[in-house]
Amino acid sequence: MGLAALDRGARPPVSRPLSPAFPGRFPTTRLRRNRTHPWLRRLVAENRLDASDLIWPVFVQEGKGQRTPIATLPGVDRLSVDVLAQDAAKAARLGIPALAVFPVTPPERKTEGGEEAWNPDNLVCRAVRAVKAAVPEIGVMCDVALDPFTSHGHDGLLRGEEIVNDLTLDALVKQAVVQAEAGCDVLAPSDMMDGRIGAIRAALDRAGYQDRTIMSYAAKYASAFYGPFRDAIGSGKNLGRGSKATYQMDAANSDEALREVAMDIAEGADMVMVKPGMPYLDIVRRVKDAFAMPTFVYQVSGEYAMLMAAGEKGMLDADKVMMEALLGFKRAGADGILTYAALKAAEKLRG
Ligand code: PBG
Repeated sequence: MGLAALDRGARPPVSRPLSPAFPGRFPTTRLRRNRTHPWLRRLVAENRLDASDLIWPVFVQEGKGQRTPIATLPGVDRLSVDVLAQDAAKAARLGIPALAVFPVTPPERKTEGGEEAWNPDNLVCRAVRAVKAAVPEIGVMCDVALDPFTSHGHDGLLRGEEIVNDLTLDALVKQAVVQAEAGCDVLAPSDMMDGRIGAIRAALDRAGYQDRTIMSYAAKYASAFYGPFRDAIGSGKNLGRGSKATYQMDAANSDEALREVAMDIAEGADMVMVKPGMPYLDIVRRVKDAFAMPTFVYQVSGEYAMLMAAGEKGMLDADKVMMEALLGFKRAGADGILTYAALKAAEKLRG
């Protein structure tokens, strides 16, 4: 039967059900029926976004009373430690369970070997102590990776052009232990060296931090969507034309993500993460289905910036597309989302 016939009011033929699991036949079955009213749509909603799904990544800088905007991340500021403590209290009031702290290391403290990473008085450690003292009920997460501290902007240690895996593990272990000492609740290795989860777990346990959680950036891709983050912490200039493709994953790969996640679980990861988010929703779904682990996703700086920039230009409604993108992560199987929009989203969810 052609479209013209339908236009004349002819009834479409009764079709066979697609599968025994989804019996459904027009006109008996009308899926629009469940979409009739707002209350009914709420009732049948399969996924829901809640403030307790959100982790708020924050940038911390030196100084007092500082709140410095980041040009490539509209609405996101670098905060001094005192201001961060105030904002952490706000996040806790809104029901956000945890923050992820990223330091803007002063350039003069960056070195080839990234030694500032395991200085117990570095900016991250001071921020963690301040937040835990001011707002003990909020969880604090720290990145374990060297890029905020190295003069070359890489996450690992260099020998010539090579990022040396096992040498880097020693540095990461020292970094994780000082973060734990400072009070960090969740250690989040984002460096993509092989074997780092096992090395960090063993070191934490040896130091008496059996209670600290590891969220592994398990499937982390070499992505151009990290651009604004690198501006925010000032690692972009250091990295220059350098690439992280020898340690972060190739965007072409999906089975490999499952191997990365399997290894990190075997080495002791308590939670796993996929990063970036929106272009990698298929990976979130595969990881969740394959491992049934607490699975997180990072809506990275470039994804956030894209939506905000389109909003500023009047091309999209930034608030609406943001909430839709965040809900999309839940639908893909994520248990939680790292997003720069966490505060705003939590405020919106509160209504
Ligand atoms: C550093 C790190 C990066 C991000 C989180 N941790 C950047 C990178 O790997 O270059 C990206 C976060 C974002 O873009 O929002 N290891």
